[in-house]
Amino acid sequence: MTRETRFTRQLGIDLPLICGAMYPCSNPELVAAASAAGAIGIVQPVSLTFVHGHEFRAGLRLIKNLTSRPFGMNALIEKSSRHYHERLVRWVDVALEEGVRFFITSLGNPRWVVDRAAQAAGIVYHDVTERKWANKAIDGGVHGLIAVNNVAGGHAGRLSPEALLDDLAGLGLPVICAGGVGDPATFRRMLDLGYDGVQMGTRFIATSECNAHPDYKAAIVRAEPEDIVLTERLTGVPVSVINNEYIRRLGTRSGPIARWMLRHRRTKYWMRSIYAVTSMRRLKKSSLTSAGANEYWQAGKSVAGIDSVKPVADLVREFAAALADS
Ligand SMILES: Cc1cc2nc3c(=O)[nH]c(=O)nc-3n(C[C@H](O)[C@H](O)[C@H](O)COP(=O)(O)O)c2cc1C
Repeated sequence: MTRETRFTRQLGIDLPLICGAMYPCSNPELVAAASAAGAIGIVQPVSLTFVHGHEFRAGLRLIKNLTSRPFGMNALIEKSSRHYHERLVRWVDVALEEGVRFFITSLGNPRWVVDRAAQAAGIVYHDVTERKWANKAIDGGVHGLIAVNNVAGGHAGRLSPEALLDDLAGLGLPVICAGGVGDPATFRRMLDLGYDGVQMGTRFIATSECNAHPDYKAAIVRAEPEDIVLTERLTGVPVSVINNEYIRRLGTRSGPIARWMLRHRRTKYWMRSIYAVTSMRRLKKSSLTSAGANEYWQAGKSVAGIDSVKPVADLVREFAAALADS
């Protein structure tokens, strides 16, 4: 049971379902399990190397040893430093050499990824939160759009899944719904609405193959949508987290100095860098350990539909079954 869409045809996969890139939760076993089950897993390079400790090419080979099905790579193309950019170019090249043919780009201009991928007939989708960014991505040559909505885990967008699909109408590219899907019925509803596929993050954390701490998985299963809040205090832009004692102490709005710095072009880079370094370290620790007094966990409002921790194969089978009579 599946549904063929422009997206499944481009990638040659069974089910229009993506296990989204997650810093720090994307361990290679999770990526491989999603692909092996007929969906597609996405490698988060910083997660693969910095959090899970694999040399990049060796990490990709580990996934290839676990499955022969296609998997993708997330390229966050913010030009925050030349060093990072050079490393990202190397990661994209190594991924292409290792047979990766699907890239999801975020933030900057995806053109250079599109051009490099084109040499191997690769497909590039770009994260967008509204039409303005979609038009820029299309100018950059992308083949599809990941529509990040206002209920997504990680960095959320501004529009509801329905409003965002309307906003992106008529652009002629496949559109993937990212955010708010945690159960098979919602998966089907988003496809029936007109999306070409769905990207899930939070739901895939609560699986046996994800290396996140069991307490984190249990907190996702337990949480209700009202427990999910957005805080700017971690990266400078709103991140979706489970409200706990630590988040209540930290607060959800940036302080006045940080806000001022984030508004101004020249200081924005520095403020983002400060947030990035501290939050990367904290996030790495908090996903893999139990929640102490100084920990927090990222999750989206899709927690509403998540009722247990299960193997990825079972999860994907249930999502496929929801399309039985379509
Ligand atoms: C813990 C966590 C970390 C994430 N990290 C990234 C990331 O590094 N890059 C990215 O493009 N998206 C990231 N996302 C977004 C997911 O790939 C996906 O789009 C999102 O989780 C969809 O919303 P959902 O959580 O409601 O399923 C992250 C999401 C979560 C929950």
